Amino acid sequence: MANVSERIQQLISEQCGGSQQVFAEKTGLTKGSVSQYVNGRNEPSKKTAGKIAEVFGVSAEWVLGAEEEADAAPAVRTSPNEGEKRPMRTFDKSQKLDGVCYDVRGPVLDEANRMRDNGVDIIKLNIGNPKPFKFDAPDEIVVDMIYNLRDTEGYSDSKGLFSARKAIMQYCQLKKIPNVSMEDIYTGNGASELITMAMQGFVNNGDEILLPMPDYPLWTASIKLAGGNPVHYRCDEQQNWYPDINDIRKKITPNTTGIVIINPNNPTGSLYPEEVLKQIVEVAREFDLMVFSDEIYDRLVMDGKKHVSIASLMPDRMCVTFNGLSKSHRIAGYRVGWMVLSGNKKNAQGFITGLNLLSSMRLCSNVPGQSVIQTALGGYQSADELLLPGGRLYEQREFIYKAINDIPGLSAVKPDAAFYIFPKIDLNKIHIKDDEQMVLDFLKQKRVLMLQGTAMNWDKPDHFRIVYLPDRRTLGKATERLAEFLSTYSQY
Ligand SMILES: Cc1ncc(COP(=O)(O)O)c(C=O)c1O
Repeated sequence: MANVSERIQQLISEQCGGSQQVFAEKTGLTKGSVSQYVNGRNEPSKKTAGKIAEVFGVSAEWVLGAEEEADAAPAVRTSPNEGEKRPMRTFDKSQKLDGVCYDVRGPVLDEANRMRDNGVDIIKLNIGNPKPFKFDAPDEIVVDMIYNLRDTEGYSDSKGLFSARKAIMQYCQLKKIPNVSMEDIYTGNGASELITMAMQGFVNNGDEILLPMPDYPLWTASIKLAGGNPVHYRCDEQQNWYPDINDIRKKITPNTTGIVIINPNNPTGSLYPEEVLKQIVEVAREFDLMVFSDEIYDRLVMDGKKHVSIASLMPDRMCVTFNGLSKSHRIAGYRVGWMVLSGNKKNAQGFITGLNLLSSMRLCSNVPGQSVIQTALGGYQSADELLLPGGRLYEQREFIYKAINDIPGLSAVKPDAAFYIFPKIDLNKIHIKDDEQMVLDFLKQKRVLMLQGTAMNWDKPDHFRIVYLPDRRTLGKATERLAEFLSTYSQY
């Protein structure tokens, strides 16, 4: 009996001219989902198999690997008769998760964990978690949390503590984000919880939401999970990875209801100038789009540049801005984030009611975490010195940028912010068809873990992401191994 991957590959080769892209277009699935089915990392649900079957004139059971329709498992079970023996039911993941992928913690990481469990020492350049790289939280934050623990044993207001929201409101004032009252602020267990919550509250089945390519994949996953279609607009490597406004315009359809920006960006480290933001606002105005702006890295900007919140440029429209302390205050484990509604909310009362409902349903976010927001956002910002010449983040960025550009076949745009770099592989020089395989081979051969670009929804196998949080010596070792590995590596 054939497996699902073989069946999908058969359809791709016989009915789509061998192109996964054509298969994705015909079925309305994302390229990422199709690639997962082909690689055998995921399987379509029965519903999706039905959709595929309809497009290609086969049966859903055949898509799922059965020889004959009769092979399919019964869809409904009656109570067994006494003494009757039946095979045990298998529990699939829910159909809501169909097409939802999050490879930041995917199969390559599974292999890395296996290697680690076998005592292999791995250099991890894959996850933006400052603490393991000796970026400690400021003492003041830790002491304040301890001090507040007794007072934060109970639930708080579902949107968060007064003191935390007041501090966020004042932060918004400093960032010139207009029309933010206490009621417009929601604290969350990291920005992650609020991204998922906002998408659940906003997206209807079939809605199209524009988001960057490459992206932070939680956004794509959350839109999918909410029943929407993520539509990726291109960020232009030749233009410092700024969003390509023409591409955004080309991708707007009558079903487009929102646009996501990630500024500063993960994985490119790009900081968007005001002119680019203004053009995005213009598009949002013209097509009546809700703007979602992920600004979790806004306090990690280098070279004296200044972060501008897109919300500050659109008082006449509603904008939802996300932020948190995971990165700027190196407390990713405390899970502290927030979401702010700003601008003109007249036309979004229904959406806001939905957000309030979802916020109440989770009761509240971690209250000890909320209790340090006021301390974190006021006064001296310890992150600033990491970002100046001589500071760790600055020096590590300088190092990685040069080291990558010195490797034959690689090039990279210099990041302005955050702690990621997204190098390009010249496929004419280094022969790669499958970037996940390349990252896996590099891991196995050289014990360095990176993230393939396609995991960040980049559409070609010619990029990867490095997190440059490790110290310079470690980055030096990693880039030496990368140079050695790529000097002989070829997939064909
Ligand atoms: C762009 C972006 N947004 C959101 C998050 C999630 O942050 P949090 O720890 O606040 O959930 C991350 C984490 O890496 C990120 O890179």
